[in-house]
Amino acid sequence: MLYTVGPVNVSPDTLQSMTKPMITHRSAEYKELHGNIVEKIKKALDTDMDVFLVAGSATVFNEGAIRNGVSEKCLGITNGSFGNRLIEIAELNGKQVDKVEVPWGKAMRPEHIAGKVAKDTEAVCWAANESSTGVFSDSVAISKAVSEQNPDALKIVDVVTAAFAMDLRVRDMDADAIVFGTQKDLGLPPGLAIMLCSERMLEKAKTVKNRGFYTDLLKIKKQNDVNYALTTPPVSLMYGLDYQLDKILAEGMPARYRRHEEMAGLIEHWADERLAGVFPEEGYRSKSLSVLNRGDLDFDAFHKKLKAKGYEISNGYGDVKEKTFRIGHMGDVTPDGIRELLGVMDSIMEE
Ligand SMILES: Cc1ncc(COP(=O)(O)O)c(C=O)c1O
Repeated sequence: MLYTVGPVNVSPDTLQSMTKPMITHRSAEYKELHGNIVEKIKKALDTDMDVFLVAGSATVFNEGAIRNGVSEKCLGITNGSFGNRLIEIAELNGKQVDKVEVPWGKAMRPEHIAGKVAKDTEAVCWAANESSTGVFSDSVAISKAVSEQNPDALKIVDVVTAAFAMDLRVRDMDADAIVFGTQKDLGLPPGLAIMLCSERMLEKAKTVKNRGFYTDLLKIKKQNDVNYALTTPPVSLMYGLDYQLDKILAEGMPARYRRHEEMAGLIEHWADERLAGVFPEEGYRSKSLSVLNRGDLDFDAFHKKLKAKGYEISNGYGDVKEKTFRIGHMGDVTPDGIRELLGVMDSIMEE
């Protein structure tokens, strides 16, 4: 069983839903599938933004957002590895990047960017749920602070490990690109990147050169408006996504968010009792992944025994790799599944 920070377990019925016969991506059947997925995502996340789908991992749309939303200069706010990666992507695409670095384990807050969003800052990017530290920052508050300083600055938000696990308040967030993929809280295999895209982003894209082909949001929009993908989409995975979205909508988003909160609570309690607690600061802890302090646990030996019993969790990541480890509780994982995992972890610690 995978309790990693993605990819995640895929339920047998969902796997089965992906075995339908192949269809071509310029057929009426495909249009229906594409359109259904878009509408279901809009419903689940309560948004009217465009929903774009492209074959690839989430990073393709993090890169796409920067390539379409920034001609010259942006600001990256970071409190961990994935915020740093957004900055790296912008730099590798030749953008000038101002940086605000927040200590690892702490949330990014409006005060961190006070006076930092310049008049020529075209976009601000950050990772809402920092998967290296387990910090979930308040993106609604950050977004407001950006717009108060520069109403024209676009907001590019990586929600890769947050979407469908925690309430993102997409309307209040008022962002221009909100990016995630299938292999985390959607409980599916990897292979499809998803972006919620604003009209402002598309207007800006018209003025930006070198948007590429694969990541050109204007080309993607044109096809998406008629329920087509720009290039060949992963149709089997989309069958799974359509099926999984029905399951998600039947569970109901409030219930889904509560389930994730309960799982995070169980792990936090366990970490307090058995080890040295969790790493991220209180009040800003992710509900989809937990980052635990190792204390004096020999993680590699512990994980070897855990894997031998059929359970896999994740190592620490980035600067806190050696002093933490991570448990993913995403997608279809239940509190009972987490209790079972923690029971097995207990038995190993007792050995
Ligand atoms: C916060 C965050 N952003 C981006 C990524 C990269 O996603 P992908 O591998 O789907 O491109 C990850 C992967 O774990 C992540 O956790």
